[in-house]
Amino acid sequence: MSLEKLLEEVRARPLPRHVALIMDGNGRWAKRKGLSRTEGHRQGALAAERLIRFVGREKLVPYITLFAFSTENWNRPREEIEFLFRLLEGFIRGKLKELAEAGVRLRLLGDPRPLPTRLRAAIEEAVAATAANDALHLTVALNFGGRWAILEGVRRALAQGASHEGLDEESFSRLLPSAELPEPDFIIRTGGHKRLSNFFLWEAAYAELYFTPILWPDFDEQAFLEALRDYQGRTRNFGRVVT
Ligand code: IPE
Ligand code: IPE
Ligand code: MG
Repeated sequence: MSLEKLLEEVRARPLPRHVALIMDGNGRWAKRKGLSRTEGHRQGALAAERLIRFVGREKLVPYITLFAFSTENWNRPREEIEFLFRLLEGFIRGKLKELAEAGVRLRLLGDPRPLPTRLRAAIEEAVAATAANDALHLTVALNFGGRWAILEGVRRALAQGASHEGLDEESFSRLLPSAELPEPDFIIRTGGHKRLSNFFLWEAAYAELYFTPILWPDFDEQAFLEALRDYQGRTRNFGRVVT
């Protein structure tokens, strides 16, 4: 089906409000082509850029979250980690103007403290410069882990002296690092593995999950629309009896 036809179909039905993507498969993409893992990450960054531009232009989904670096990704070789951080810094600095003009609001989800100072500065600048935008809420999950996020919520609850009685699912959700975002309706993972790898845990309670073998650098507009179409074919019960 042509991209235009697919877009028309997808537009005609209810869309998710928040789509979160686990961008996996850069290394395997590179390996298949006889390239270095870093080249895979470079192509992966281009795929992310293409997706952001498409979603922004077509106004398909107001909240997009990209899982860029997990708390477990610190276990990778130092050179790869440094390359990823430099790539991200270059992306943020290089695209800030375009993102800001397109009405994108950038957020960071994750603990910024262990990140390189230059990357943190670039993120802080971009977050501040786009804080008034709301055409597309783009969140980069960086040094993010689902368990870290839940623990962060617990730490905040303790720091506030929250009472047993006062703490329920709703009040606890407001203490999570993701509190400003609606819960993800749809989580897409590329690269073929069927797991969350410590991405959203609390927030994913009722997310629809979608796994595709497509490697992240190859995940294009067509693939994204096909994923959305799959989402639109599902019934979300939220525990109820749906007749
Ligand atoms: C995902 O691609 C990118 C990050 C985790 C930063 P990978 O680097 O995990 O690629 P594969 O899974 O090894 O193919
Ligand atoms: C998940 O990919 C993390 C990101 C995409 C940032 P990984 O490649 O790190 O996941 P595992 O190690 O295969 O579970
Ligand atoms: Mg991987």
